[in-house]
Amino acid sequence: MRIVIAKDYQALSKKAAHIIAGQLIMKPDSVLGLATGSTPLGTYQTLVTMVEDGLASFSQAQTFNLDEYYGLGPQDPQSYYYFMQQNLFSRVDMRSNCIHIPDGLAGDVQMECLRYEEQIRRHGGIDLQLLGIGRNGHIGFNEPDLKFEAITHLVALDQDTIEANARFFDEPSQVPRQAISMGIKTIMHARKILLLASGKEKASTVYQMVYGDIRPELPASVLQIHPDVTIIVDEAAAEGLAQMRGTDTSYIRIE
Ligand code: GLP
Repeated sequence: MRIVIAKDYQALSKKAAHIIAGQLIMKPDSVLGLATGSTPLGTYQTLVTMVEDGLASFSQAQTFNLDEYYGLGPQDPQSYYYFMQQNLFSRVDMRSNCIHIPDGLAGDVQMECLRYEEQIRRHGGIDLQLLGIGRNGHIGFNEPDLKFEAITHLVALDQDTIEANARFFDEPSQVPRQAISMGIKTIMHARKILLLASGKEKASTVYQMVYGDIRPELPASVLQIHPDVTIIVDEAAAEGLAQMRGTDTSYIRIE
């Protein structure tokens, strides 16, 4: 694991955007795995600016999002499809037929999950997967569990996740109770992983992800065995990491 400690959220966002832009320069037809949540917003904003300035291009890229709320369609302002359109896709040179997000309205969820896996496989697998992390250690919507759920599947959201995500809805009761999410194996198959965490409330989860046991009760801990993971944290989320500089983890500090 490479850990980059950024001075603040802005530095974190800039560094993450540079890594994604670099990936697109090295391989313009990259398959990118993308995430929602508030953490990647600054990264997406920086990428939009870089595309406007001619420093990055999504024109040949394919994207696969981690997850989608079950029961919400693409026109629903709370859907992750809508989020991605608003914050990235409609603002960069992304081709609409190269955007892939699980269908939250799929009648046959089982089929939809298999279709999604097959699409990723047919495009050659994910080159770079962007991740946030939930307060409970979830990645995508892989909630703490007794086993790691392998492939794309229907998830019952944890109470903690429903509460954390309620801030995006008028009423907590409006938060969908289920979602379709890539599985742990789907995520682990990505060639490179870039995880972002910001703020004090993520500090203890980040610490456990990096130094705790690998266990399905903290899904992100599985990233310890991925061969190419970069974690970018701001100083607030890095509290607790600093004194634990292990030999298998390299630290970089950026301003
Ligand atoms: C949601 C998403 C995750 C995301 C998490 C953290 O539950 N499914 O992919 O990482 O929220 O969100 P935030 O970045 O807002 O803390």
